[in-house]
Amino acid sequence: MSDALVVGLMSGTSVDAVDSALVRVNASGVELLNTHEHAIPPATRQRIAAVSHTGPDEIERMGELDRELGLLFGEAALVLLEAADTRPHEVTAIGSHGQTIRHRPPSGATNAAQSFTLQIGDPNTIAENTGITTVADFRRRDIAAGGEGAPLAPAFHAAAFTKKGVNRAIVNIGGIANVTLLEGQDLHSGFDTGPGNTLLDHWVMRHQGKSFDRHGQWSAEGEVIAGSLQRLLQHPYFQRSGPRSTGVEVFNLDWVDNCLAESENLSPRDVQATLAEFTAITVANAIQHGGVAVSEVYICGGGAHNTDLMRRLYHKLAPAQLDSTSVIGMDPDWVEAATFAWLASRTLSGLPGNAPVVTGAEGLRILGGIYPG
Ligand SMILES: Nc1ncnc2c1ncn2[C@@H]1O[C@H](COP(=O)(O)OP(=O)(O)O)[C@@H](O)[C@H]1O
Ligand SMILES: [Mg+2]
Repeated sequence: MSDALVVGLMSGTSVDAVDSALVRVNASGVELLNTHEHAIPPATRQRIAAVSHTGPDEIERMGELDRELGLLFGEAALVLLEAADTRPHEVTAIGSHGQTIRHRPPSGATNAAQSFTLQIGDPNTIAENTGITTVADFRRRDIAAGGEGAPLAPAFHAAAFTKKGVNRAIVNIGGIANVTLLEGQDLHSGFDTGPGNTLLDHWVMRHQGKSFDRHGQWSAEGEVIAGSLQRLLQHPYFQRSGPRSTGVEVFNLDWVDNCLAESENLSPRDVQATLAEFTAITVANAIQHGGVAVSEVYICGGGAHNTDLMRRLYHKLAPAQLDSTSVIGMDPDWVEAATFAWLASRTLSGLPGNAPVVTGAEGLRILGGIYPG
């Protein structure tokens, strides 16, 4: 695709905001032009949380929310374009990730034939309201081809962030964290490492009513509880190798409560420190045992702003160098939205978007459905 303007829309498992990014895609790569963080109304966040686990009237609630999010995502694109002084007809496509409400990949399913992943936010509504061709539903084709459907970012990381002769890790710390291992100019592997911010967010919400622990100030004041940390690390997910992905179905506060049950009178602040240490250890282990001698690690996603988490990672990863992706050309807050703009451009060009070495799919596949504007 030659010099196309594409909008990427991303709302991750943190459900903190809709990230909306306008990028220019051409042969030499992806250039971030404008960005807009679109607020998700609290009532909508609650509806997303409610439909993310089994309950009565699921189809009814999912259908309504699918349309509601389609409207919200379309709005997020239009507000971005207005601020960027760009008309919808100048934009080739919108790549919309959608809101994940279930992720049950083959690696986590008891029966691989029953694996599925589900992202909602009706792309028909986005295309109708913006007039822009919308590409969405990127993950299910990879699942259909026997893959995990996730993570999809590694293919983009390989396209944007490799450097000849240098082994790099790119780590996206959203609600769930994923790592991409780059061996020189080759994509070596990529997988979800486990929880990123999700447990930290939910624990600080439960104990302080805050949606996140700003800069990790609270966790920085606590002491890591060794026994609890060991129980968290015993989750079988961390023994797996090969393609793997996970979600908030697996890593949530119910599970944390179970792990903590054997300890008594724990200070919530110490638990927060333990959860931060847990994320840092699982990310560092993934990089250090991934089969590539990595010398440079670059962080993107909201976790890049968590100073305490970055400090823990820095100590565990040394002597590898730790920075945010801004050092290699992209603001860490917008890498994921840019990923879905890039994936949309791949799909419209008839090019595959998945990386079988990452997802375990049987082969390269053109991802997503196209909803003409
Ligand atoms: N200043 C900050 N300090 C600590 N954590 C932060 C900060 N800014 C963002 N975060 C974390 O990043 C999360 C959002 O990250 P994001 O990459 O958008 O994840 P997702 O893809 O799951 O939506 C927030 O929920 C929060 O945990
Ligand atoms: Mg987010």
